[in-house]
Amino acid sequence: MTRRALQLDAAERLGPRELRALQLERLQATLLHAYENVPFYRAAFDKAGLRPDDCRSPADLARFPFTTKDDLRANYPFGMFAVEQSEVRRLHASSGTTGLPTVVGYTERDLSMWADVVARSIRAAGGRPGDKVHVAYGYGLFTGGLGAHYGAERLGCTVIPASGGMTARQVRLIQDFRPEIIMVTPSYMLTLLEEFERQGVDPRTTSLRVGVFGAEPWTEEMRREIEERFAIDAVDIYGLSEVIGPGVAQECVETKDGLHIWEDHFYPEVVDPVTGEVLPDGERGELVFTSLTKEAMPVIRYRTRDLTRLLPGTARVFRRMEKVTGRCDDMVILRGVNLFPTQIEEIVLRTAGVAPHFQLRLTREGRMDALTVRAEARADTTPERRAAAAREIAAAVKDGIGVSVGVEVVDPETLERSVGKFKRIVDLRGEG
Ligand code: DLL
Repeated sequence: MTRRALQLDAAERLGPRELRALQLERLQATLLHAYENVPFYRAAFDKAGLRPDDCRSPADLARFPFTTKDDLRANYPFGMFAVEQSEVRRLHASSGTTGLPTVVGYTERDLSMWADVVARSIRAAGGRPGDKVHVAYGYGLFTGGLGAHYGAERLGCTVIPASGGMTARQVRLIQDFRPEIIMVTPSYMLTLLEEFERQGVDPRTTSLRVGVFGAEPWTEEMRREIEERFAIDAVDIYGLSEVIGPGVAQECVETKDGLHIWEDHFYPEVVDPVTGEVLPDGERGELVFTSLTKEAMPVIRYRTRDLTRLLPGTARVFRRMEKVTGRCDDMVILRGVNLFPTQIEEIVLRTAGVAPHFQLRLTREGRMDALTVRAEARADTTPERRAAAAREIAAAVKDGIGVSVGVEVVDPETLERSVGKFKRIVDLRGEG
């Protein structure tokens, strides 16, 4: 990691007290900006009997109302914007599984701040000016592609804007252009792995040094798999469109111990997902963000639905968030037991004879939900090993999570492959 000097941003060199002072100043400015320019926030603060200047310390933020995805939908498309439309330089939208997408807007300064935080993220991941960065996050309304793109340029890298899909071509580009860094969803990285093997190229021999993986939950087991099969460092990048896009938080390659939140721009809280009560650092709950510098679309206490906990900083002054391994929305409740797809990922990736591709099928049997884990045999797996693997997965779920699930180990290369953000759960409860 000492290959080239690590030049931190000024904010990364702040002391804890200076950081708190900066946050408070920006928080107060953001509350005022939202109150004065967004009728939704004015009405919400008025209803709670609060004025922007009632926030005299970060702890006072807890008195302010939350903002949810439904609030954003109710103000579709531009109702949450705090600036004139002529000041908005870019729009993005997150598709959402049901109903209206959520639309987000950026001023020129917002775009510049976003490029700064993504540049900072890539550098924390181990990227340096002069590196070539292969961006295989989708370009378009999704924030992944363009977010990574401008951040890599800001850092002084050479960007290869591959976008998602056309997997054979991705492999070709990586061999020919020899990037040091790849930015892609972890599930699509596994699709790329197979394509390397199909083309007879050893994935350990590529020019890649670091992968910056995010946009979906992934586990330590997945990190190990990717690091070993590609001989690279795999680090986690987190973000969401409503807050900015990728680059809200980033894992540092030297510690790989959770993601440092770029707290000079995004103020985190963790709350009880049911009561909304703010939890002390270290306790698990739902992550909530307040933007500190955004102009076009400030967000006040936005409920991410992502579950994590806040931890003290290590490689940076900023607090860390533990790797997000579940969303409130992804949680399956089976006979009263809560289960997250990442828990199954851990088990499948530890099981001999199965590939790291799996899918969860949710069905209804009578009045009960049932879950079937569909994992895929590796090409050289014997029928006996396949049967044993199915038994091992079922037993590990029963012992580790405490619920019975069905397990099918299917033929190699039969399950759907990811080309971006992967949907693990196939919900068939409405059918049959
Ligand atoms: O996924 C932004 C992004 C692009 C992040 C590329 C990282 C890399 P949305 O489409 O709005 O934005 O989806 C945001 O994705 O609330 C999480 O549930 C999930 N997510 C994003 N990053 C991670 C991660 C982008 N590193 C939603 N780990 C978030 C787990 C993640 N989940």
